[in-house]
Amino acid sequence: MSSRIPLPYSPKVIELFRNPKNLGKMEDPTVYATAGSPACGDMITIYLKIVDERIVDASFISYGCAANIAAASMLTEMVKNLTLKDAWNISWKRISDELGGLPSIKFHCGVLAVGALRRAIREYFKDKSKPDWLPKNLSFEEKQALEEEKILEMFSRVRKI
Ligand code: FES
Repeated sequence: MSSRIPLPYSPKVIELFRNPKNLGKMEDPTVYATAGSPACGDMITIYLKIVDERIVDASFISYGCAANIAAASMLTEMVKNLTLKDAWNISWKRISDELGGLPSIKFHCGVLAVGALRRAIREYFKDKSKPDWLPKNLSFEEKQALEEEKILEMFSRVRKI
C-alpha cells in the first residue's frame, strides 16, 4: 500500500491535468520561451502567435507536474485575444485563483508558467522599442523562474556526482 498522501488538488486542476487545453508545440509561433530546467524535469515552454501586439494563439509543452500542466492550460486559455500588456499583467496568483487554488507547495508551478509567458513577451520586444508598461527589471515570476533554474541545475549536478 502506498504511504503517499494525495495533494489536495481542486476539481479544476484535476480536470485540466487530465484534459489540458492548448497542449503541444506550435509550428509557427511568433515567439516562444522556456522556464525551468530540462535536466530536472520541471520545464515549461510557452508558444505565442502575435498579431499587432495581440496574442491570437497560445500553446505549451510541459515536463512539470499536474499543477504545472493545469496552470499552463489555464494561462494559455486566458491570454488568447489579449493585448501583450494585458497578458503581461496576469499574475500566478490569478492563475491559481482561476484553478480554484493550488496547494502551497505547488505555487511555484504556476509561477513557472507565468515566468515562461513573461519571457516570451520580453522576447517579442527584444529587437523592438520597448513599451512603457514593460518593466526594465525582472518581475517576481521571472526572478523566481531564474532562482528555480539555478537550484535545479545545482541538484542535477549533485545527482551526477
Ligand atoms: Fe515542479 Fe510542479 S512544476 S512540482
